[in-house]
Amino acid sequence: MIRCGIIGYGFLGRRLAKHLTGYRERGLKLTLLANSKGYLHVEDGLDIEGLMEEISTHPGFRASHPMEAIENGLADLLIVLTPTNVYNGEPGLTYIREALGRGIDVVTADKGPLVIAFRELTSLARSMGASLCYEATVGGGIPVFSLARHSLRGDRILSIRGILNGTTNYILTRMHFEGLTLDLALQEAQMMGLAERDPGLDLGGIDSACKVVILANALLGLDKKLEDVKVKGITQVTPDAILAAKELGMTIKLVGSVGDGKLSVAPRLVRLNHPLCVHGTLNAIQFKMEVMGDLTLIGRGAGESTVSALLSDIEWIISQRTSPREGH
Ligand SMILES: NC(=O)c1ccc[n+]([C@@H]2O[C@H](COP(=O)([O-])OP(=O)(O)OC[C@H]3O[C@@H](n4cnc5c(N)ncnc54)[C@H](OP(=O)(O)O)[C@@H]3O)[C@@H](O)[C@H]2O)c1
Repeated sequence: MIRCGIIGYGFLGRRLAKHLTGYRERGLKLTLLANSKGYLHVEDGLDIEGLMEEISTHPGFRASHPMEAIENGLADLLIVLTPTNVYNGEPGLTYIREALGRGIDVVTADKGPLVIAFRELTSLARSMGASLCYEATVGGGIPVFSLARHSLRGDRILSIRGILNGTTNYILTRMHFEGLTLDLALQEAQMMGLAERDPGLDLGGIDSACKVVILANALLGLDKKLEDVKVKGITQVTPDAILAAKELGMTIKLVGSVGDGKLSVAPRLVRLNHPLCVHGTLNAIQFKMEVMGDLTLIGRGAGESTVSALLSDIEWIISQRTSPREGH
């Protein structure tokens, strides 16, 4: 039986835990939950239905550093859902490093550790015979990495482009269809809970740039860092510029791309009938393949749909544990 732990019991952690209740017959039990205040461990498996949202008030909760649970080997599979810090990767980076170093499989939605230490972590996983899965870090529930590695393995990815940030795409969509200013569209996004109170990373293009780095390293075999991405955000995009694009049958989208070893994020003109021209909070990712040509995936880039990507990674790890066959 695989003992599964979730580090970071917030929006995604709580939703994922509910889905894991039926996994006992699949050979997995949830034994560990941790937040910033400590952790809760039940070796026989946690009763999620009976658990309160705030685990810190549970009688079995230990107000100790969650690293203690990793060091004491309380999980065989760790799901790391900690807040993203794209400048130092913490706190997720240390958890992932410690877990992989002990041969514990890791699934994460936290971009920070992968942006900071992609090669280090993937090499560590390989040397320890552990899996590191990160489908949820790019495009929410869209199966970017598993599709590329499994269904597209006979072909070659030449370049990747995408609308990788739902918040900026929502703002640009409202500017295009309603003629709103960027400030008004941002306020609307914040009221709807689609934008952070500090939306700098989204508007400045840094969130998209992080996803470009992960795509480049994971799918094109590059070794790039955030500083290798030429980044321009959407703060200078005006209603007039969008109107001018509209008159030409186009709009402005924040496009992240990697090809010929170059990584960039910038507002670009996109034809209204182009597959990448998705609206609202949708994300789109287009692979240029050597044999197939263009292939575009469209889906929700954040929110509850992200749990689908986490479950896909968990399923893959279960399958590897029961009959290991191929690389992820
Ligand atoms: N939400 C989405 O739609 C989405 C989509 C794709 C990727 N992601 C990424 O997935 C990760 C989780 O997202 P989320 O929305 O679930 O975040 P969230 O709601 O903010 O939850 C974060 C959790 O991490 C815990 N935490 C903070 N510092 C910690 C530490 N040092 N040690 C252990 N736990 C700590 C928090 O504890 P407290 O409860 O004690 O504060 C909280 O439970 C983030 O990296 C995010 O960027 C999210």
